[in-house]
Formats: sequence, structure tokens, C-alpha cells
Amino acid sequence: MRCPTVDCLFLRANGRFVCWDDAGSDKVLCLPSETSDMSRVYEPEGPCARAAKALRAGSLPDSLVCPGCLCLSMTGVPLFNPEVLSVMQVEPSALCTLRCLACATSEEREALDPPHLLSPGVFASTLNDFSRAGIRILVFDFSGHGEPTLNPELPELIRAARRLYPAAFITLGTNGQTRYSTELVRPGVDQLHVALDGVDQSSYGRYRVGGSFSNAVSFLQSAAADSSAVHVVWRYILFRHNSEIEHLALAWEMACDIGVDEIRFIITRRGEWSTSVETVAELSKALKRAGVPETCLRLESIETRDRRNRLKNRISRYQSIHRLASRTYRALRFVPFGTGLPTVGVDYCMWNEQQINMAICESRRHLQAGRVNEAQSLIRHVEEIVEKPRRSNPAYSPEMVLLSLGEPYGSLRRSLRKTLCP
Ligand SMILES: C[S@@+](CC[C@H](N)C(=O)[O-])C[C@H]1O[C@@H](n2cnc3c(N)ncnc32)[C@H](O)[C@@H]1O
Ligand code: SF4
Ligand code: SF4
Repeated sequence: MRCPTVDCLFLRANGRFVCWDDAGSDKVLCLPSETSDMSRVYEPEGPCARAAKALRAGSLPDSLVCPGCLCLSMTGVPLFNPEVLSVMQVEPSALCTLRCLACATSEEREALDPPHLLSPGVFASTLNDFSRAGIRILVFDFSGHGEPTLNPELPELIRAARRLYPAAFITLGTNGQTRYSTELVRPGVDQLHVALDGVDQSSYGRYRVGGSFSNAVSFLQSAAADSSAVHVVWRYILFRHNSEIEHLALAWEMACDIGVDEIRFIITRRGEWSTSVETVAELSKALKRAGVPETCLRLESIETRDRRNRLKNRISRYQSIHRLASRTYRALRFVPFGTGLPTVGVDYCMWNEQQINMAICESRRHLQAGRVNEAQSLIRHVEEIVEKPRRSNPAYSPEMVLLSLGEPYGSLRRSLRKTLCP
């Protein structure tokens, strides 16, 4: 089992390190006032190391929070290396002007402890702690649960990351509602992710409540036209109302016209997700029908992605190779090659049936070995994951999902009951 907390950290706008997943974003791993040295969150006996230890033993790191976590993967090895942090996700702003249907609500944002904008002073001091402790950070992802561009000091935050970690890979995610400016990316962004889930106001605005389709398109156009710009990724989350073949064909046409480097489709289990495109195989078939040339497709299954991550972890242990690769990438990213057309990628925000079944098999193994607590906590995880999307997707039926898992789920529940009350 693997979870991002083992080798990734999420720094919220109020300066706290919290757990990576939405389910755990209230779970504080390290408070700015708790210690004068924020890098202690990543020390060998700290919360990340403890999460790795629990996962290796087949348990969830936190029996109260983890059962609802979408990020827990049933495959992979929890590798904790106190010298290398794979990703630091940074939340420049906990605020947003949109009300996307499966994102934080205004009440949830108001309930957050202030400040709601990350201060460059707090960020720089945190990074100094990491740098002094000799911890390498491979990737910075400026995103979080709010809109980064609402923080007027965003360029200063990015500049601080680039100054202390010159070889890091830096991404910035935005909803593209503001006016594009080179100043956003000049401080050192490698990849700019713009959220645009639709091909017109009606297919876009249904999820991105309060958002303007034309603002997001103008932002993408300006970013793609900026000669100093970075790798521009159009992120397109697949919902029921924007994933018909006609939508995909139009999105591809627009991506070519605008000249983005990549259009990345996100298969999700949050919001009213697409029921026609739920797997990589279905996405691949739909894109081909929509007229996307096969040479542009870079779609991978979860299996290949896990394999690639394992390889990436192994490579990242060799500092010199990583530095050389980063430098080469930075030099190459402006060299045009290939077809000149955007590539088409895929990302996931989901727990699919295969993963749920893996958790059930793992629970069965625990039960057979007499580890009832572990078996029970994994079953609780399955139930939470299956139940959770109901809030943002009224058409979703958890009963149908549990039913489709069939006998293995039912028989495990019965065996557990028998073990607990013989
Ligand atoms: C909370 S947003 C913050 C950044 C920015 N405001 C945005 O919308 O891109 C962080 C990431 O969550 C993604 N996201 C939002 N709703 C999602 C959903 N229903 N499923 C999967 N990803 C989602 C966004 O596209 C973005 O990449
Ligand atoms: S599995 Fe638990 S510790 Fe790991 S990211 Fe999810 S909530 Fe956090
Ligand atoms: S734009 Fe981003 S942060 Fe704002 S509500 Fe939508 S997903 Fe959340």
C-alpha cells in the first residue's frame, strides 16, 4: 500500500503541513508554532516515516482519517527517504472566487484558520529549514484547495522555491480567471496547468460555478502565445456533461488552434463524473473516434503509472542523474519536436473497482492471518470510499457499487462478523 504522505508534503496557506488528501487536510502533521524547525515533519521518526511504517505493516496510518482517503493506493511500496521529498504541494491561497461543485464550500473555507494567503516570509523560512536539513525537494506544485493567482505575492513564492531549489521541477495550477501575465511564470515555473473543463460556457459552467469560459480560454491563449512561456497544459476533467465524442472532438480542435503543449483529461470520482469515459481504455477509444491522431496519445494505465513511479523513485536516489535530467529537460523544453500537435495525457482522481477489489483481497489475507483490526480497518476504507461521492453526485448509488463487487465483499463481511461475534 502507498499513500502520498510518505514522500510528499502539503503546505497550506496558513503555514501548516497537513495530510495530502481532502479527507486528511484537517489533520495537521506539523504546526508552524510547534517547532522552530519545520523540516522536522520529515525526520526519520516524524509523521511521514510513521505513515510508511504503518503501511508496510498493512495498516492505515490513521484509523480515523484514512478510511475516507482517495489517495491511498493498494499497489506500490511506501518508500520513505529522509533525504528526498518527492513533491511539496504549496497552497498560495485558500480562497477562491469560483464554487466548483466538488471543491471546498465557502463555509469550509471560512472555517479554516487564517491566514488564507501564504506569506513569502513563512514559505522562505520553511524552505530554509528543509535546505539546512539537507532535504532535496524534487517537485513543487503550486496549487492546493484555493486559487493560487489570488495571492498577489505568488511570484515571490515561486521565486523562493527556485532560489533554494534551482533543479526542482515547478508546476502551477490555475483556473485561468485572471488576466495572464508573464510575471506569473517568469520566476521559474516549468509547467502551467490551466483548468478548463468544457468547450463552451454551458459545458464548462455546470461544474465551474461562477467561472467564465471566455476568461479561461483567453488565459490559455495568452499563455500559449507567450514566447517565454512554459509547457502549457490544458486540464480537462471528464464529467457527464462534457465527455461526449462531440465535446472531445471540439476540445482537440481548440487545443490545436490555441497551441497548448498538452491537453490532459482527468478521470475522476468527484462531482458528476463521466459515465461514458470511466477508464483509460474508454478514453483512448473515445479520443480516436473524436479524430485525435494515435501518435499524439500518451495514455497510461494505473499499472504502468505505478511502474514508472517506482522507476522515478529509484532514479531520484541518484542526485547527479536527477540534476542532469532536470537540466536537460529545461534546455529541451523549448526545442520543437514531434508532430507539432499537442500531446494528449490522462490523470486520475479516483478509486476504481480494481483498487477496491485489491483492498478486499488484502482484508481477506489479514483475516486469514488473524489480524482482525487490520482487516476491519481496510473494510472500513472500502465502505467510506464507496459511500463518499454521494455528496457531490446525487445520481450515484453506493449500493450498486457494493453489489457489483459481489460475493468477495459479502463473504468477507460475513467472516468478519463471525470472527467478532462467534
Ligand atoms: C482545488 S484545485 C486548485 C487550483 C485551481 N484553483 C484549479 O482549479 O485548477 C486543485 C486541482 O484539483 C482539480 N480538481 C478540481 N475539481 C476536481 C474534480 N472534481 N476531480 C478531479 N480533480 C479536480 C483542479 O483541476 C486542480 O488541478
Ligand atoms: S492514506 Fe491517510 S495518511 Fe495517507 S494521504 Fe490518505 S489520509 Fe493521509
Ligand atoms: S477553481 Fe479550483 S480552487 Fe476554485 S473552487 Fe474550483 S477547483 Fe476549487
